Amino acid sequence: MSQMNPKWAEEIAKRRTFAIISHPDAGKTTMTEKLLYFGGAIREAGVVKGRKNSKHATSDWMEIEKKRGISVTSSAMDFEYEGHHINILDTPGHQDFSEDTYRTLTAADAAVMIIDVAKGVEAQTIKLFKVCRMRGIPIFTFVNKLDRHGKDPFELLEEIERVLGIRSYPMNWPIGMGSHFCGVYDRHKSRVELYEQGSEHSEIKFVEVTGAEDPLIGDRAGADLWQQLQDEVSLLDVAGDDFNEELIATGQLTPVFFGSAINNFGVQTFLDNFLEMAPAPTAKKSSIGEIDPYTRPFSGFVFKIQANMNPAHRDRVAFLRICSGRFERGMAVKHVRLNKEVKLAQPLQFMAQDRAIVDESFAGDVIGLFDPGIFQIGDTLCLGESFEYEEMPHFSPEFFSKVTVKDAMKHKQFQKGIMQLTEEGTVQLFRTFPMDDLILGVVGVLQFEVLEYRLKAEYGVDIMLQRLPYQIARWVDGDKATIDQMRSRSQIVRDRYDRPVMLFESEYQLRMAVDKYPKLTFHESSLGL
Ligand code: G4P
Repeated sequence: MSQMNPKWAEEIAKRRTFAIISHPDAGKTTMTEKLLYFGGAIREAGVVKGRKNSKHATSDWMEIEKKRGISVTSSAMDFEYEGHHINILDTPGHQDFSEDTYRTLTAADAAVMIIDVAKGVEAQTIKLFKVCRMRGIPIFTFVNKLDRHGKDPFELLEEIERVLGIRSYPMNWPIGMGSHFCGVYDRHKSRVELYEQGSEHSEIKFVEVTGAEDPLIGDRAGADLWQQLQDEVSLLDVAGDDFNEELIATGQLTPVFFGSAINNFGVQTFLDNFLEMAPAPTAKKSSIGEIDPYTRPFSGFVFKIQANMNPAHRDRVAFLRICSGRFERGMAVKHVRLNKEVKLAQPLQFMAQDRAIVDESFAGDVIGLFDPGIFQIGDTLCLGESFEYEEMPHFSPEFFSKVTVKDAMKHKQFQKGIMQLTEEGTVQLFRTFPMDDLILGVVGVLQFEVLEYRLKAEYGVDIMLQRLPYQIARWVDGDKATIDQMRSRSQIVRDRYDRPVMLFESEYQLRMAVDKYPKLTFHESSLGL
């Protein structure tokens, strides 16, 4: 292993690559926008908007694409801030929600979880959180909309712990809420960040205090809120978890911040603290052991493939997370699965609405590669010694349909289309054991429509989709004899790597199976199988 050019190493150490996870409407778009604003990447609000336009049920896929607009092209956004190079990976919510959203998390080194103070931990957050948890990446929590009345903060922390199973450490604590919201008390720095109704908070206003019992807080917030703050902070100090960097780094403890993204309140404090604690790119597992980002030459893996990003050119773009070394435009690299050299001539970087050609990128960055059909999700590209990054996991779909071709004469095109489109990764393909029937699984129903539309438009094939009652898939592992015995059941299918997968109609059925087959384990994703 060689020592890297110190300038390149410095570039890598500056990188912070993260994804924002939340339930729709919690404030992810607003937060992203504010962060980009701090980085000087955008000058006005409203640029990242438009996601909500995707609330529709049309089956015209081009229309869907048009409406998705920005959320599609901004799969990764980057900006410089205070000596850091920040990459925010977009995790589409709403109807766009698909397995891509999960997989994007495999390209992130940390996650920011946004929770609406009134709604608490919601369904989509739970799903995304679980994926972060599996990967053991640090998770930072921002409790949003404190300008509105919401749940009691202790209740929220309890909910985070009970529902998500992660302990929490509030970095700051709200003084009042809704119309009585006065600001947050910083537990570490002993200061109060002041909230002023109607202010844009373009500049942070701090009041240095000696502690929660400082009368300065009483002057500002009134006796009742001051007393409440003192009681709550002392309760946190006595009964709450201790600050522990190691537990934060491994995703077992989440630092919690309170604020109001729309009012720009608490966002910069959050960002500054986040950057102090969030990791620079770290070593990643591969077929030849861990790959160090600093000492290895260029390498990366494809985590997402996006078709037809530009309807005028029907192109596909493969998104590559660079995991080690430096990338340069025009570089010839090894495509490991195909055992072939490919030249990366026109790599793209994405910023808000624009795509730009990049000349140079480093470990931690995400680039888009024009894909003439040679890339699959999980492909490794590298320089020097050949190796492959870990297989990209599949996650449990929630909707299932049996798919058949309407015109049997088109069977060949149908097979080809299904194979190619499922390789893009938003739809999973399963086969039944005795009959070899094809079953599709998705995490967002819109994907069925998209697939149906594209098979017709791109392959000239009409299909029939028959919805199945299943809601859960589990990769089954363990005693082979037991698995073989189970094969005759219709609920057992195999994935594209012939691994057995069991489908369930409810959590109840799943629990019954877990009890009935103690020699088997039921995995929520194919991660590590
Ligand atoms: P999302 O990407 O997670 O789906 O959420 P988004 O940022 O679009 O925010 C959802 C709604 O919540 C938006 O209102 C947004 O303005 C509002 N919001 C975000 N942060 C805060 C906050 O700190 N306080 C309050 N009170 N509201 C907040 P909307 O009416 O649905 O959309 P818009 O008309 O404002 O665009």
